[in-house]
Amino acid sequence: MDTQKIRPDFPVLSKKWNGKYPIYFDNACMTLKPRQVIAAMDEYYTEYPVCGGRSLHKMAKMVDEKVAGSREKFQKFLGAKRHEEIVFTRNTTEGLNLVANSLDLKKGDIVLTTDREHNSNLIPWQMLNGKKGINHVVVHSAPDNTFDIEKFESLMNKNVRLVSMVHTANLDGYTIPAKEIIKIAHDHGALVMLDGAQSAPHKPVDVHALDVDFFALSVHKMLGPTGMGVLYGKYHLLEELAPFIVGGDTVSDSTYEYTKFLPPPEKFEAGLQNYAGIIGSGAAVDYVEKVGRPEIEKHEEKLNTIITDGIKDIPGLKIIGPQEPGSRGGIISFTVEFPKGGDAHDIAIVLDETANIAVRSGAFCVHSWFNYRKCEAAVRASLYLYNTEDEARKFVDALGKTIGLFT
Ligand code: ALA
Repeated sequence: MDTQKIRPDFPVLSKKWNGKYPIYFDNACMTLKPRQVIAAMDEYYTEYPVCGGRSLHKMAKMVDEKVAGSREKFQKFLGAKRHEEIVFTRNTTEGLNLVANSLDLKKGDIVLTTDREHNSNLIPWQMLNGKKGINHVVVHSAPDNTFDIEKFESLMNKNVRLVSMVHTANLDGYTIPAKEIIKIAHDHGALVMLDGAQSAPHKPVDVHALDVDFFALSVHKMLGPTGMGVLYGKYHLLEELAPFIVGGDTVSDSTYEYTKFLPPPEKFEAGLQNYAGIIGSGAAVDYVEKVGRPEIEKHEEKLNTIITDGIKDIPGLKIIGPQEPGSRGGIISFTVEFPKGGDAHDIAIVLDETANIAVRSGAFCVHSWFNYRKCEAAVRASLYLYNTEDEARKFVDALGKTIGLFT
């Protein structure tokens, strides 16, 4: 992959902070935006900044055409059968909440998750426990931090209605064996939802081949605008789901007493939409597809290997998740414990101040995993298509110097 050709597309990479170019390793949180995405949104704002889905004038029709185009791009991007299976949301969190709140879950139903779920795939189930009496059960990982498929199978029973799992974890980059999990879940009559926030931007995903029932992603984690997400659902399941947020453009008719909802996806896209965001999202798909997800995956593994090899033997530093970089995609998270103190946040701040390296520190919204292990925080470097081998080596070097301050 030719990063030198890619990098000029990202204006922020040529902006110096304190005299130095940034090394941006916080991609699991938010990726940078290429000029093609910015231009697509700019075009909306300058040429046809009007509503879609309602009015019949030419500018509104242009918005409708662009929105339909973006929807079709996501249909292809995810391997969905129909463009109506693509619902625009604000983020993965909203997609997961939509299903949690709209699926006909009843008292006693079980929802199974992994032990490394983002709060977005944990708190909805805890809330539903209080509201509806549904039971949330955690499948703990095997000792080597991989998915324990036998434990999972042993937890499956007729009360499990939904298996809702993080496809690739933002905690450590580990990808669960989704196809096997989905097959087992379906054999037991359960539905499966995947949190694809960290998988779809980084590796090929085909929802049809996986046979997954629902799949949520965030477009701002794949070069797209902030506050944009997509929920995929099998059409017949979307038809059965109750609407989540209701109002304008979700109905074909209403009286004072009665409402007739539109079919999916409209019944889930209430109110005026983020048209600039949807159009920019289509441009993000084009960009990611032009580079190619198999190439992105290989590239991230190469950089992950450089970083892992450079830091794995540092005393006091522990990499979270499977130890081989090939099992952790573009993510390297680690805890620290040094003789002279210095916590994860200190490491992140010193990296930023001394080397302009942006990483994330904390619990990455996976507090449950940290609390279970009585551990507070970690440092996370997360990679994407514009990062280079040189940046990976600079990170290893800067981290060594930073740790030197605390040992
Ligand atoms: N969940 C996002 C992250 O991992 C925000 O940083």
